[in-house]
Amino acid sequence: MKKIHLSTTIAVFETVDELPTEVQALMNEAINTRKNAYAPYSQFHVGAAFLLENSEIITGNNQENAAYPSGMCAERVAVWKASSQYPKVKILKIAITASSINNIVKEPVAPCGACRQTLLEYEVNQNSNIEIYFMGETGNIIKTNSIKDILPLAFDKSFL
Ligand code: THU
Repeated sequence: MKKIHLSTTIAVFETVDELPTEVQALMNEAINTRKNAYAPYSQFHVGAAFLLENSEIITGNNQENAAYPSGMCAERVAVWKASSQYPKVKILKIAITASSINNIVKEPVAPCGACRQTLLEYEVNQNSNIEIYFMGETGNIIKTNSIKDILPLAFDKSFL
């Protein structure tokens, strides 16, 4: 038996102003779309903005449902919107932000496991990395260079 240590690298920005200008604009799109989230059950609002290689920005927010599992996360709303509208266009960067009606979300909110898996599919297919920037409502912003950085030992089509 041997042990293998897996590690990952993230960058931490203290404020939105510290982000590259293009990413500040992307995060502002995520903040704007977060306000349109339909989240009456969790009262947790998430916004995601995707920058595509053709310079289009595609946004998505979480959409809940009285039958809870029928709802959907912001990231998957956005990635499916992007892929259905621009199926061959690469995703370059994603900005994500979350807020709550009940408290101020100060910690960066990372994509859930199902969203990571979904995003990986598109990163693998386009054969180039997708940068993700995620934050709460305020506070630090975390950047990862690839979906793979937050999904170790990932399952993808190479296993099939
Ligand atoms: N949510 C997202 O939109 N993205 C995530 O990655 C985590 C969770 C949404 C789903 C649900 O509407 C609410 O946040 C609470 O889980």
